[in-house]
Amino acid sequence: MGGDLDIKLIVDGKRLDGRSFDEFRKPLKLEVGVLREADGSAYIEWGMNKIIVGVFGPREAIPKHLADPDKARIRCTYTMSTFASLEEHGRMGPNRRAIEIGKVVREALENVVMVEKFPSTIIDVHMIVLQAEGGTRVASLTAAAAALINAGIPMREPIVGVAAGKAGGEVLLDIGKAEDNYGQADVPMAFTKSGDIVLLQMDGKLTREELAKAIDMVEKGSKKLFKLQEKAFEKEYAEPIGRKLSLLEEESKVDIHSL
Ligand code: CDP
Repeated sequence: MGGDLDIKLIVDGKRLDGRSFDEFRKPLKLEVGVLREADGSAYIEWGMNKIIVGVFGPREAIPKHLADPDKARIRCTYTMSTFASLEEHGRMGPNRRAIEIGKVVREALENVVMVEKFPSTIIDVHMIVLQAEGGTRVASLTAAAAALINAGIPMREPIVGVAAGKAGGEVLLDIGKAEDNYGQADVPMAFTKSGDIVLLQMDGKLTREELAKAIDMVEKGSKKLFKLQEKAFEKEYAEPIGRKLSLLEEESKVDIHSL
């Protein structure tokens, strides 16, 4: 949060990239079943973010002391590739930020995944950020939920995530990197389909009214993301062979802007 500095983030009622206040970045595309070796997978392109998620399991917990006899354990790893952004160079190992993001995504998923059905097992969710431009935790979470569904792991209901924020004095949906860096607040959130909140973080400063507005904006935005998720699965079941062949083929992805 840079407190706006000298950068004007809102000009003539529009954001720097021409978006209105409640508009998602483009493209916003989701595809499931993209990895051959994973039990479930998803690939998301969201603005300049490109993230791939592989789910493995439920499989026997090894080492055994990790096993919980009452339920499956979910393990989420978040990794930024060395080429994900100009800021991210050097080794790919987990840093504090990556550990934190893995933890918040896991905790969000634990609210909906029916872990009690798979005692003494582990479900691994690996999220790899190929390219980053702000909002990677919510984009990773959205893709992770789709990858779990793709793996056939039962969930009480799906979840999706998107960040709201404040920049140039306005409450905005899906804040991008410049709005995050130079704006006044960043509020990543995740919703269940029935409207419960399973992630809410905040960085910066908002009035109570602005926070309420941000939550409303994200809840509305979530509805579009659930549609995107549903469409990705329609495509998967309609074209089970095609999808495997067209790993990163443009047309095979569902674009939220065409819904
Ligand atoms: O990605 P998200 O907004 O969930 O997390 P953040 O920690 O608020 O990071 C904001 C953005 O800063 C990321 O999406 C990246 O574009 C960039 N960043 C980076 O490139 N390398 C880092 N080590 C941390 C952040």
